[in-house]
Amino acid sequence: MARKRNPFKPSAGANPPALVGREALIDEFAESIEDGPGAPGRLTIFTGPRGVGKTVMLNAIAERAQAEYQWLPIHETATPGLLERIAGQAAAMLEERSPTTRKITGVSISGIGGLTLSQGPAPPELGLRQVLASLLGHLEQHGSGLLVTIDEVHAGQADELKQFAAVVQHLVREERDIALVLAGLPQAVSALLSGKSVATFLRRAERHSLGALPLSDVATALRQTIEQAGRTISPESVDAAARASGGYPFMVQLVGYHIWRAADADAIVPDDVARGVAAARRRLGTLVHETAVKDLSQVDREFLLAMAGAPGPSRIADIAERMGRPANYVGVYRARLLAAGLIEESGWGAVDFALPFLREYLLDQA
Ligand SMILES: Nc1ncnc2c1ncn2[C@@H]1O[C@H](COP(=O)(O)OP(=O)(O)OP(=O)(O)O)[C@@H](O)[C@H]1O
Ligand SMILES: [Mg+2]
Repeated sequence: MARKRNPFKPSAGANPPALVGREALIDEFAESIEDGPGAPGRLTIFTGPRGVGKTVMLNAIAERAQAEYQWLPIHETATPGLLERIAGQAAAMLEERSPTTRKITGVSISGIGGLTLSQGPAPPELGLRQVLASLLGHLEQHGSGLLVTIDEVHAGQADELKQFAAVVQHLVREERDIALVLAGLPQAVSALLSGKSVATFLRRAERHSLGALPLSDVATALRQTIEQAGRTISPESVDAAARASGGYPFMVQLVGYHIWRAADADAIVPDDVARGVAAARRRLGTLVHETAVKDLSQVDREFLLAMAGAPGPSRIADIAERMGRPANYVGVYRARLLAAGLIEESGWGAVDFALPFLREYLLDQA
């Protein structure tokens, strides 16, 4: 019997076999394309913890923009050289659309005759703004536009992001068909937007924080994915698998992947689910939690363990009491862990874990 391919994708940035629960956000972005320049959704930031599906969201938006509106994507990550890479991609797209343009624009901007410009990379003289404007000119003639996505934004890259935001802001003012969608960890985005070197323009972006997926949608997606790949699973088993994922997108893929692997027949049975879920937990621990807590100090860990002792959010006073330390001392660690993105505020001075299943992981390890 031929081996059936495992359809699940428990891997960073990999598009899942079924994208669960993001339809409304993708629709919202699509509407902004229809609404035209100045629509708020054309400047959007997605935030959320590791593995929640930010990168996949950027992919999904770009796919929709391309399929439905023929908008072209430029995908980038916020690392040094960002502006140059965007300019390079735009220049390549421009040349593809109009092989003569580069020479002509090169002449007018550099004023050196364009002789050497017909080969090699785009000339830096061709400023980012001009390249984008020329490219948009071509795209708009065909009713399309340009979507730039920048993943993993953080304050360390504030300067280039600020410069790029200024370019985009100009283009928006000129009513060009361009959209900018950013993604990053919540604490990285907050640090970026609260820093003084960031453009006000970026602060006005629509912000969406991505969170857990509804379990009923997860169950449906798991079942459909399994059936489409040629296997079966009972409703009870699929519900158990969905519950074990906690609706956390990365865990959805891990659970799906490992229950598929655990089964050696085409019908996935409860025992496969139990073994698959256990394997998925272990993988999540090594891939996400171990890395997340690796560099923490002893007291940071104590703090987290004190939190893990309670089933829900903890107040700082309770954490201090559980740790047997003064509240002001504990407050320092609260700030550190918030900054590290491991915990988040949860109303009325309480904090909770920001990473799904971190509590379970810590209790397991203790
Ligand atoms: N809506 C979704 N439905 C099902 N699976 C999803 C969904 N979104 C993401 N995933 C899966 O979750 C995993 C993590 O997705 P992704 O890499 O986009 O997360 P991320 O938020 O970018 O994480 P990081 O902060 O580490 O970059 C991938 O395996 C992906 O296939
Ligand atoms: Mg990502």
